[in-house]
Formats: sequence, structure tokens, C-alpha cells
Amino acid sequence: MKIDIIGAGSLGLLLAGKLIHAGAEVRLWCRSDEQAGELSRHGITISYEDGSLPLHLAGSSLRAGVIDKFAETVSRVPGDWTAIMLKQNVFHDTLPEILAPLRDTRLHAVCFQNGNGHLELLQELLPQASVWAAVTTEAAKRKTLTEIIHAGTGETIIGKRRNININVEKGGSEEDSAAISLTKALVAAGFRAWMSKEVDTMIYRKLLFNAVINPLTAIWRIQNGELTASAERVQLMKELYREAASVYDACGITYDVHAWEGILEVCRATSGNTSSMLADVLASRATEIRWINGSIVEMADRAGIAVPLHRWICRLVEGMNVKER
Ligand code: PAF
Repeated sequence: MKIDIIGAGSLGLLLAGKLIHAGAEVRLWCRSDEQAGELSRHGITISYEDGSLPLHLAGSSLRAGVIDKFAETVSRVPGDWTAIMLKQNVFHDTLPEILAPLRDTRLHAVCFQNGNGHLELLQELLPQASVWAAVTTEAAKRKTLTEIIHAGTGETIIGKRRNININVEKGGSEEDSAAISLTKALVAAGFRAWMSKEVDTMIYRKLLFNAVINPLTAIWRIQNGELTASAERVQLMKELYREAASVYDACGITYDVHAWEGILEVCRATSGNTSSMLADVLASRATEIRWINGSIVEMADRAGIAVPLHRWICRLVEGMNVKER
């Protein structure tokens, strides 16, 4: 399988490295010439915190280029799938221009972003594309431009934002069989991946978890596990959770009745992890707050619900000192 991966952050490198290891051909599209050059020279290294031997991937199965060349290359030599691994802010800032020449091309694209709003934008930019969502709980940290630490294995769920009823053994349409092949490639690469017709529920579940955990870890500059170390912190988390849950209720979005316990469990299970939003703040990068808590605020506005805490949290995180925009 030939896979284009747009975005060579921690998850992009993890996906690329593992897929190459399992025999896929990967073209990795980076935001800088410097990173594309480093990857072409040194390949990708995946290391582990438990001391397991690092995995080093180099050679002809990996091609790295700059994102500006994506459209030109793909129109000459199409791939089977494009996985978009950019952060929401970069997705919204760069893809309209990058993808404009492919407007009439039929791509199979899968988006791995946190939050909401990106799938609609991609479908608007590429009306002919088959757009799929992936929700993943894999955790990776970037060490250098070519090296990541695979900090935690998770689950990756792939689906369309509509009801699909697919049995992985018996694919229906061409687009469904393509998604089945992608899922199989991910499984062969060592990911716990499957397809689901419940991807909307998974997207909103992750949004709820991210909207409670991520901004507080970023503001207090603490790791996930420290959130539950004080009753005051848990209280604020709970208030954020209640506001978001009231928005879901008003919008008819279903969520697990045990979602609150689930959030506390994720904090415990990822206690030593730096959340993706804290990692952005520490690296002076723009955060995804607008597409996480901002998305809760937007839904609340549409439903006529007051969400003062989420509104404040958005302002606080947006006001944090970031160099990149
Ligand atoms: O965005 C993240 O960092 C993760 O999804 C999680 C588990 C909510 C916090 O680390």
C-alpha cells in the first residue's frame, strides 16, 4: 500500500515508521525543508520508554518531501491513501492552499485530528474525496525532527461521519473496501485498529475528554495524573465536564453515562503524560483550543446554552504566550 502522510509531528512519524516497518510505502510530507532533509538522510527512529530496542526505519520505502509539493506529486503519482496528521490550527491554515489543485481529484483521506470542524473543511476542499475519520489514543512524543518516543499504545478507530455498517471481512462499496485495506495495513503495522459505525460517538467522546483534561494541564503546566491530585482541581474539571455534558444533552449528542469516571480513569492511565495542549504551550506552538473548547462553545451558542467556564478557558489558553500562529 502507498500512503501519503501529511504532517511529520509525533503521531505522523509514529504512523509512518510503523507502516514502513510492516512493508508499506510511505511519502511523508513535512512543513519544513529542514525536516524533510533530515528524514531523507537519517530515516525515522522510534524509541520506547521501557528500554526496548529502538526501531530504525530508513531506505527506499520512505520518501520525505515538503508539503507544498504534495498536490503536484499526488496528481502525477497517486497513492492509495492520504493520512492527515496535522494539528487543527495548521490544518485550517495550510490545507486550503495546498489542496486547491486537487479539488477535482478523488483521494481517500483519513483525518487524525482532535476536536471538531476539520472533516467538514476537508470535504469542502476536496468534494470528490472519500473522507474518513480516525480517533486514536496512541501517545507519542517527538524528541528530534526524526525521532519519537512511543509513549503509550492505544486504540485507533476508523469510520465515516455517517452510519456505516461494515464487516471487515465483507466490504461493500469501493470506498469501504479501501478503508478495510487501510485498517488491515494499520493492524499489520502493530496498531490496535478497527472500523466502526460509531465514529461520531468516539469523536465526541474524545472531544469531551480533551475539553476537560487538556486546557487545565496547559494552564497549570502539569502532567495528566496531577489533575486528580487535589480536590480543587477535580472540582474544576467536574464543572467543565458538566457544562460540556449539558451542551451534548441539548444537541442530542450521546455520551457514555460513565464519561466522568472515564475522564478520571484516563488521567490515571496517562498520569505521567504531558497532554498534547501542554506540549504545544511548552514548545511555544499555537494550541488546538479553538477546535476543542471552542467547539463546545460554538455548539452551546447554537443550542442557546451558557458555558461561561469553557468560554473563559478558551480566552485564557488563547492568551497564553505563543510565538507561532
Ligand atoms: O490530547 C491528549 O494529550 C490526549 O488525548 C489526552 C489523553 C486527553 C491527554 O493526554
